[in-house]
Amino acid sequence: MNATSPTLELRAVSKRFPGTLAVHEVDLQVQAGEVHALIGENGAGKSTLMRIIAGAYADYTGEVRVNGRWARLASPAAARAVGIGMIHQELSLAPPLSLAENLLAGRLPVKGMLLDRAALRKDAQKWLACVGLDLEPDTLVEAISQHEAQLVEIAKALSNQPSILVMDEPTSALSRAEVERLFQIIRDLKSNGLAIIYVSHHLSEIFEIADRVTVLRDGRNVGTRGLSDATSRQLVELMIGGAPSDLFAKRTTRPGQPKLQVQNLTRVGFFHDCSFRMCAGEVLGVGGLSGAGRSELARSLCGIDPLDEGRIFLNDGELMPGTYGEYIRAGFAYLTEDRKAQGLALRLTVAENVLAAILPRGCRAGVYLGRRQQGVVQRYLGQLNVQPPEPDREIATLSGGNQQKVLLAKWLATDPEVLILDEPTRGVDVGAKAVIHRAIAEVADRGKCVILISSDLSELVGLSDRVVIMRRGRLIGELAGERCTEANVLLAANGEMSVFNCNRGGTG
Ligand SMILES: Nc1ncnc2c1ncn2[C@@H]1O[C@H](COP(=O)(O)OP(=O)(O)OP(=O)(O)O)[C@@H](O)[C@H]1O
Ligand SMILES: [Mg+2]
Repeated sequence: MNATSPTLELRAVSKRFPGTLAVHEVDLQVQAGEVHALIGENGAGKSTLMRIIAGAYADYTGEVRVNGRWARLASPAAARAVGIGMIHQELSLAPPLSLAENLLAGRLPVKGMLLDRAALRKDAQKWLACVGLDLEPDTLVEAISQHEAQLVEIAKALSNQPSILVMDEPTSALSRAEVERLFQIIRDLKSNGLAIIYVSHHLSEIFEIADRVTVLRDGRNVGTRGLSDATSRQLVELMIGGAPSDLFAKRTTRPGQPKLQVQNLTRVGFFHDCSFRMCAGEVLGVGGLSGAGRSELARSLCGIDPLDEGRIFLNDGELMPGTYGEYIRAGFAYLTEDRKAQGLALRLTVAENVLAAILPRGCRAGVYLGRRQQGVVQRYLGQLNVQPPEPDREIATLSGGNQQKVLLAKWLATDPEVLILDEPTRGVDVGAKAVIHRAIAEVADRGKCVILISSDLSELVGLSDRVVIMRRGRLIGELAGERCTEANVLLAANGEMSVFNCNRGGTG
């Protein structure tokens, strides 16, 4: 470190919510040209601390200095004015507006009294190109994919030309190739002298991109380390305040009777001729690159999106294509990869969200919450260790990882026959991951079918009995037993390894 004052310095910064001291007397220093990682368990206070820096809370206490000068970050505008930019954990774009309008909101170029559309397009194009996106600036946000939205979010932050950039779990919706691209962007920004704070649950990413790391536990800074001489184990111990227990409980149960069979599922333009069979008690992994059609297949399989062709058999009976509600009643559950936009009702309470899929439509849980339903809510909050375990709390006030657990609880509560999970541990910490894995294994152990889509390869391979590979909308094969390794899944998903065709095969 050089002798000049740090670009960003926090002294004894705290933030209290009613009943929670989310950030407690945190000191932190970030230098220009440094990538400073921030890690900690779900609810440790990472997002709250980042929001303080971005000016979201006028009532924080403590002192912030930017380039040696005292700064009061009482509003987002005040934070922007001193050069702070933020990429939020939950995306913040306005879906009905165009990319250009989203990118340059608040400082749209004008010519005389009118919006200068040509300048707007040109400016927007420049920032999109910065993150390697080749999209028309007039495209509406609602028309782009989630990983494109993540990159647009980054472009938006860059367009303010910040000198301090805060990124809260920027890779949670990105594929490996997109992460590479993001890391290249971060390296460029770093060499231009930006100070970057990078929040992530992926230790491997942190070792790859960051110079130093600060660990938060229960709102406190419990240590800052240089990454060149830290180990993953040390960091995990700092995060949880003790030695880690065994993280991956490998499943041992054997699959039972044939239970689910899907034949020739096709949705033209999304996936084609997909067939597979599953037995009771099986966890079937679906591997593939982002855009391979895995989520689309899952959504059609449980009635959210239509099917053009194909047949589905569950427990000997054929399922007639029907509404989403009918699929849910038949025992299908789909945990979406996008919890904010599609999974949770953020204005409602934890209990209302847990009960959302089992209560009759139109009936508000607050009104109808009987003893039995209270029991259901309590049981899942306990099983999944949701923090804080308060049913009446508005779900938006839970940390991201705890919201994810509530989303899983919502689908576990339907006691599904076929549980389809799309990125079930996105944004959850190592400990919570183990809890979620146990809950998934338990569903399978009770003789249900679990279909698992995950970009976390160790999770996919560790939890699944076998993994089918999807590529460009087709199931191209299957990996089981000793062949089912992270490396093989990756090779097969990239089309660099031939795998057996599973269309006729499977354990059935
Ligand atoms: N608006 C709010 N009202 C009340 N409590 C809140 C609010 N926002 C956050 N909290 C609480 O503050 C604590 C810290 O939450 P925060 O979102 O900062 O955690 P985090 O470290 O980002 O976790 P994650 O890894 O799950 O994203 C949690 O106990 C959370 O429930
Ligand atoms: Mg967070």
